Amino acid sequence: MSETLNIGLIVGTTREGRFADRALEWFETKIGARDDMRYEVLDLREAALPFFDEAGPPAAKTVTSENARAWGEKLKEFDGFIVVTAEYNHSIPATIKNAFDYAFEGWRRKPLGTVGYGGVGAARAVEHLRLVAINFGMVPVAGAVSIGGADFVKASQGTPIAELGDHLDGPAKTLLDDMAFWGQAAKLAKIEAENRQAA
Ligand SMILES: Cc1cc2nc3c(=O)[nH]c(=O)nc-3n(C[C@H](O)[C@H](O)[C@H](O)COP(=O)(O)O)c2cc1C
Repeated sequence: MSETLNIGLIVGTTREGRFADRALEWFETKIGARDDMRYEVLDLREAALPFFDEAGPPAAKTVTSENARAWGEKLKEFDGFIVVTAEYNHSIPATIKNAFDYAFEGWRRKPLGTVGYGGVGAARAVEHLRLVAINFGMVPVAGAVSIGGADFVKASQGTPIAELGDHLDGPAKTLLDDMAFWGQAAKLAKIEAENRQAA
């Protein structure tokens, strides 16, 4: 079994001028420095998912949208996901909910972490996302990055997140450590379950 985890880093907002790119640029320097995981950016802009409009849930029915089918297949490559998320009206942006609604198997029993930003660091959105994740048997990890308050204001006005100080480094490390722990645990548990079934 490979020790290196493959993490999908999801960029959750799609609008022109999004803050998400600033958070992503900074967080890539953190996840990119790890030797226990590799990552790939999954940009919902590029995924270009339609608004969910299928005959049934992807858990039960093959989706008809070609982009959504590709999205669902792509998710299967990863051992866990970190979502870079804003907070829209005290919840996750609809683009993120839609991306979750449009797949099933690829999310199953994998850890989920967040890099949130906004007035309160997207705290309310993150809690909602954790509840959504439970439906897929995911493990929402405790570690989380929240870029909020004065940090969010300064970064929105152009200060690079790396220049805000080193206080976000600890939360980033905790998040990535949690992803590593639960990613490996979930991988092992799946192998053991398969072995038990085969025995
Ligand atoms: C539709 C909408 C709703 C918003 N609601 C909230 C909110 O509930 N809480 C908050 O902290 N910021 C809220 N904001 C402000 C966002 O935090 C800010 O616009 C942020 O840059 C959005 O992320 P994005 O630039 O990646 O789209 C909202 C923004 C939009 C566009």
